[in-house]
Amino acid sequence: MTHKRTLVTCALPYANGPVHIGHLAGAYIPGDIFVRYLRMRGEDVLFICGSDEHGVPITIKARERGVSPQDIVDQYHQVMKDAFSGLGINFDIYSRTSSAVHAEHAAAFFRKLYDQDNFITQESEQLYDDQAKMFLTDRLIEGTCPKCRNPHAYGDQCEKCGSTLSPDELLDPKSKLSGSTPVKKKTKHWYLPLNQYEPWLRDWILEQHKEWKTNVYGQCKSWLDGGLQPRAVTRDLDWGVPVPVDGAEGKVLYVWFDAPIGYISNTKELLPQSWEKWWKDPDTRLVHFIGKDNIVFHCIVFPSMLKAHGQYILPDNVPANEFLNLEGDKISTSRNWAVWVHEYEEQFPGQEDVLRYVLTANAPETKDNDFTWKDFQSRNNSELVAIFGNFVNRAVVLTHKYFGGAVPASLKPEPIDAETLAAIKPCREALEKYIETYHFREALKEAMNMARIGNKYISDMEPWKTAKTDMDRTASILNTCLQICADLAIAFEPFTPFSAQKLRDILRVGIDAGSDHRAGEGTPTVNFYREGEGRALHTGIAPSQDIVLNWEMLGSAQLLPAGHQLGEAVLLFQKIEDAVVDAQIARLEAIKAQREAAEAARAAAEAAKKVEPQKAEVTFDQFDAMDIRTATVLAAERVPKTDKLLKLTIDTGLDQRTIVSGIAQYYAPEDMIGKQICILANLAPRVIRGIESRGMILMAKQGDGKMRFITPQEAVVNGAVIG
Ligand code: 2FM
Ligand code: ZN
Repeated sequence: MTHKRTLVTCALPYANGPVHIGHLAGAYIPGDIFVRYLRMRGEDVLFICGSDEHGVPITIKARERGVSPQDIVDQYHQVMKDAFSGLGINFDIYSRTSSAVHAEHAAAFFRKLYDQDNFITQESEQLYDDQAKMFLTDRLIEGTCPKCRNPHAYGDQCEKCGSTLSPDELLDPKSKLSGSTPVKKKTKHWYLPLNQYEPWLRDWILEQHKEWKTNVYGQCKSWLDGGLQPRAVTRDLDWGVPVPVDGAEGKVLYVWFDAPIGYISNTKELLPQSWEKWWKDPDTRLVHFIGKDNIVFHCIVFPSMLKAHGQYILPDNVPANEFLNLEGDKISTSRNWAVWVHEYEEQFPGQEDVLRYVLTANAPETKDNDFTWKDFQSRNNSELVAIFGNFVNRAVVLTHKYFGGAVPASLKPEPIDAETLAAIKPCREALEKYIETYHFREALKEAMNMARIGNKYISDMEPWKTAKTDMDRTASILNTCLQICADLAIAFEPFTPFSAQKLRDILRVGIDAGSDHRAGEGTPTVNFYREGEGRALHTGIAPSQDIVLNWEMLGSAQLLPAGHQLGEAVLLFQKIEDAVVDAQIARLEAIKAQREAAEAARAAAEAAKKVEPQKAEVTFDQFDAMDIRTATVLAAERVPKTDKLLKLTIDTGLDQRTIVSGIAQYYAPEDMIGKQICILANLAPRVIRGIESRGMILMAKQGDGKMRFITPQEAVVNGAVIG
C-alpha cells in the first residue's frame, strides 16, 4: 500500500429525476463495494457524494412545472438520498451543490484560476430569446431539420435522422421558451484552454496510467488524439454559482465546472478542519466511480482544473462502467424506461441485496449490458437461494437437529474437511485481487464460489445420512460447514451487506467492518455490528465475550469455536415467483405500448399535415372540359367482399346513376344517405367489381390518406355546375 488513505467519490447525480438501476450499476454499487471492502481491511476511507443541482435541464423542468429550480432539486435530493441509504450505500456525506459551502468553494476555485490567468475569454454570438430575456442553449432551440425535414429537431441534434446539427442549420428556428424566433447577441465567456494541457494529459494518462480500464483509457486516447479545444466554463443563466468577477453579471459557472468541485466542497462541509489532507496530501489515493458518459469530465476536464489550481491531488483511478440497458432498450428518464430505485425498495422490501447482487453479477464493466427481470429472478432463485441460502440453511438446521444448535466439535475429521476449508483461501486471494483492480463481477463470483464449495461439500457428505450411523463424523462435517458459513458472513459483507448481517445474526457473531467518517470531525465511527442488533453501530472496542469476525480471518480454519450456540435458522433469501417478475415485465410492456401509440399518433399527425406538391399546369380549356356538379346520395351499400368500396346511387339532377367510390373506410353507408356531394359527372364509365360506375365523387384527401367529401356550404339544387 503506497497510500495512507483513500478518498472515494461517486458521480454527483443530477437532481432532476430519481435514481435508477443504471446509475446503481454504473457507479454507486461498485463504489460502495470498494469502500466496504477497504474499510474491512482497516483502510482509512472517505466516501463522498451528493446531488448535482445545477444545469439547464433542471431549469427546464422547473419552467415546465411552474415552480422554482430550488423546488425541483429539493424534491429529488431527498428521494435520491433515501434511495441510496435504502440500499445500504452509506456515504460519509451526501450533500448538494446548491449549498452555501459549495457556492463559496466553487467561486473561490474559479477566482483562483482567474487570478492566475488560467482562463482565456472569448466573445461570440449566441442565440438569444428577446421575449424570455435569456440566451438559449442548443436544446432550447427547435426547428426543422435541413436533412430530413423533421419539424421538431433540436439545436444540437435531429432525433429522427440522427444528424448532429448546430442551431444555425435549423430551418425556421424557434425558442422553446417563448416560441419566438431567436436573435443573435454577443456574449463573453471564460474558457479553460484545454489545448494547453494536452501534452501533460497525454503523458499523465497515456503513459502513467496504462493500468486504467481499457474502456476508460480508450475513450481518453480518442479524445486526446482528436485534439482538445478551449472549453467555456461559464454560461448565461440565472441558476448556478454566480461567476465571481466584475463584468460577469447574469453569468454562472458551467455545471460541469462546479459539479466536480462539489466533491471537494462536500468534503469540506463534512470535515471543515481536516478536509485538506484528503485533497492535498499526495498520500491520499483519489478514486472516482462514474458512468461512461462522465469519462471526459473526470479524466480530462477536472484533472486540468485541478492541475491549473495547483494545490490538489489528481485521481489515481477512474473505474468507469459502461451502460446498463433494460429489457433490450436504453434506460431513459424522460421516456420512463427504467427501474426506479425508490420504487424497487417499496416493492421488494427486505430484498435490497437481490438488486445489489444482480447488478454486480451483471455489471456493465467492460461493455454495455442488459438487465432483464427474468435474469433477476433466475439469479435470485438459482444462485442466491439455491446455492448460498440453501447451503447456510442446511448447515444451521442440521446443527439444531442433531446438536441442539451448538457448533459441534470436529470429532472425526478426514482429509476432505481440511481440503474443503483450505479451498476458501484461494477464493479470498482472487477476490481481493479482483476488487483491488476494480473487477467487481469477478470478485463476486469468487465470493459465490465459496458458497458453492460449501454447498457441494454438504451435498456430497450427506450429514443427514451419516447421522444415522456415525454422529462423530456428522459433527466434523457440520463443523466444517459452519466454518464456511462464517467465511461467507465475511466475504459477502461488501456485496450483500444485509444478508451478511442476517447470516451473522444466525451465527450469533459480530464483525469489525472498519471505521467511517459519518461523525464528521469527531472520532471516526468504528463499526462493530453485533448479532441480534441489526445495523446498530457500536463505537469503540467490541466486548471480548463476543465473537467478532474480521476480514483477516477469512479462510482460516476455526472461526466458530465448538460449543458456540447458534441462533434460529431463518432463510437468507426468498424464492421469487413468476407472478412477481411477470408483473414487472407487464408494467414495462404497458409503458412501451403507450409510447408506441403516442409515437404512431404523432407520426400520423405529421403525415396528415403533409401537403402534396402542385400538379403540372393545365389550360382553362382542360379545366372547363370537366363537368363538375352537385348531386345527392339516394342509397348506399357496401360492395360485397371489399373493405373500401361503397356503391352509391345518386341523383345528379340529370339522372339517377351508380358511382362506386373507395370511401368505405371513412363513411358508413347509412351516413351517406341524403348527403349533398360534388361529382365529376363526365368521367368515362368504368366497371369496378362487376358494377358500372359512372362518374367520380370529389374528395379532399389528407397526407395520411384520410378522406372527406366536399359539400356545398348551403344546399343547392342537384346538377348545379361547379366551376
Ligand atoms: O451525469 C451526471 O449525472 C452528472 N451530474 C455527474 C456529475 S459528476 C461530478 F462531476 F459531480
Ligand atoms: Zn433530421
